[in-house]
Amino acid sequence: LVIVIDFGGQYNQLVARRVRENNVYCEIYSYKTDIEQIKALNPKGIILTGGPNSCYEDGAPTYTKELFELGIPVLGLCYGAQMMQLILGGKVEKAPVREYGKTATFFDNTSILFDGIEEESVVWMSHFDYISKEAPGFKIIAHTKDCPVAAASDESRKLYAIQFHPEVLHTVRGKDILANFVYKICGCKGDWKMDSFANEQINLIREKVGDGKVLLALSGGVDSSVAAVLLSKAIGKQLTCVFVDHGLLRKNEGDEVENIFGPNGNYDLNFIRVNAQDRYYDKLKGVEEPEKKRKIIGEEFIRVFEEEAKKIGKVDFLVQGTIYPDVVESGLGGESAVIKSHHNVGGLPDYVDFKEIIEPLRDLFKDEVRKVGLELGLPEYLVFRQPFPGPGLGIRIIGEVTGEKVKIVQDADFIYREEVGNALKEYAEANNGADAPWKPDQYFAALTNMRSVGVMGDERTYDYAVALRAVQTIDFMTAESAQIPWEVLQKVMNRIINEVKGVNRVMFDLTSKPPGTIEFE
Ligand code: XMP
Repeated sequence: LVIVIDFGGQYNQLVARRVRENNVYCEIYSYKTDIEQIKALNPKGIILTGGPNSCYEDGAPTYTKELFELGIPVLGLCYGAQMMQLILGGKVEKAPVREYGKTATFFDNTSILFDGIEEESVVWMSHFDYISKEAPGFKIIAHTKDCPVAAASDESRKLYAIQFHPEVLHTVRGKDILANFVYKICGCKGDWKMDSFANEQINLIREKVGDGKVLLALSGGVDSSVAAVLLSKAIGKQLTCVFVDHGLLRKNEGDEVENIFGPNGNYDLNFIRVNAQDRYYDKLKGVEEPEKKRKIIGEEFIRVFEEEAKKIGKVDFLVQGTIYPDVVESGLGGESAVIKSHHNVGGLPDYVDFKEIIEPLRDLFKDEVRKVGLELGLPEYLVFRQPFPGPGLGIRIIGEVTGEKVKIVQDADFIYREEVGNALKEYAEANNGADAPWKPDQYFAALTNMRSVGVMGDERTYDYAVALRAVQTIDFMTAESAQIPWEVLQKVMNRIINEVKGVNRVMFDLTSKPPGTIEFE
C-alpha cells in the first residue's frame, strides 16, 4: 500500500492511478487525516500531492513534521515538495519566473529516483512558488533554467521532493520516475491487480451491508453495470436493481440489459424492469424546448424510481455508480476546487428511504472501471459502450419526441454504429490491431426536425433528415469532428435511406465543440 496525501491539487487522483498502474495499491487521504491513522495503515510509501496554496502563508494546508521521521519513504510533488522543504528547514518563496507547461529539465541520474532517466528530459511544470534553498541534508538532483531545485533528495532518510508533475503524461519519463519510487525506494512488489480491487470491494461491501437491503438504479451504462455486478457478487439477492426503460434507449438496449441482469442472466440479484415508454411519450407530447425535455425526462425518472422503491419498502443502502471524474467535476473531490457540477451526481432521489450510500467505484477512472468490468465477466460490448446521455434519445430528436421518431433514430443509429464498428474492426485487422486515426470517441445518429422533398422510385417523398455525428475528444469538454472515411459514410447513407422508413436525407455534422456541443440539445 502506498498512500497519497491530498493537498488539493487537480492531479491527485492521477497520482493514485499512476501508482496503481504499477500494480501497487494506492489510497488517497486528506491532509486533515491524523498521523496515527496513517501510521496504522502501515504504508510502504507516502506521496504528498500538489495544491493551489502557498505553503508559507498562514493557514495553508500542512502536515506534522513527524511524517518525515517515520522511516517511511516520502515523495513530495509540487506543493507537497515545497511544504516538505519548508517544514524541514528549506526556503520557499514566490518564483521570479513562473514555470508552466513543458519544461526542459536536467537530472542527476545517480539518484535512485532518477535511475535510468536521461540527463535531460521534458517535464510538466505548473508553479508560481519555488524552493529557493533546499532543506539541510538534502541534495539537488534536478534543475531547470529557471528553477534551481526542480528536485532534491535526502537518500539516507528516503525523502524526495520534486517540483514538477511526474503523474502528468507530458512529463516524458514521469511513469519511470514513479516506478522508481514505488519499486526501488519503497520496495513494493507490484503484485496488486484490478481483480484484487474487485475482491477487496466485495469484502468491504459484505462487511458494510451485513444482512441489509440494497437498492440500485441500473441504467445499462458501464458504471452502474459494474457496480451492480460487484454488489451482486458481494450480497446476491439482498440487492435489487431497478432498470427504468424510458423508451429513449438505443435499439435493443433494454433487452440487452435484461438479458444480462434479468432472471435469465448471469447474476444473482433481484431485477426489476419498468417499461415506462408510454408514460414518457405522454409527458413529452408537444414539448419542443430542449431544457424542458431534459427536465421532464429527469423528473419522470425520479418518479418512476420512487414508485418502485415504495413497493420495495425500506432499504438500508442506495448504490451509486459514481466514478472519480464525476466526483471531481462536482467539486466533491476531496480537496480539489469546483470545476462544474455534473448531471449525474447530486441528483439523488432523496425521498427513497435509505440509511447510507455506497459508491464502490468512487476512486476509479473510466478505463479502470472498464478493467474491473472485464475482470467481473461483463460482455465487451457493454464494457466498451460509448457514453450515452441520461436523457437518451430524447435529446437526439430535435423538437417533439414521439414513439415514431424514436424508432427512426434507433434504426438509423443502429446502422451507423454497425458500419462504423465494422470499418474500425477491418482497419485494426489490416494494421496489426492498431486503432484507425479517425476512430471516434463518440458517434451516433440524431433526428433533425427537418423534412425535405426527395424522390424515390419515381415518387415524391417528404421525409425526415437524419444527422450523423462523430467526434474525437479527450475530455468531452472540447471536440473535433472525426474524419470518418467517405466510403463508410456513403454506405451508411445508402443503408439508412433503404432500410429506415421515414428518412430521405442523411447529413454529416462537421461542427467542432465549441461552438457546437456533442449532443444536439
Ligand atoms: P455535450 O452535448 O454537452 O456532451 O457536448 C458532452 C458529453 O456529455 C454527454 N451528455 C450527458 N451525459 N447526462 C449524461 O449523463 C446528460 O444529461 C448529458 N448531456 C450530455 C454527451 O453524450 C457527451 O458525451
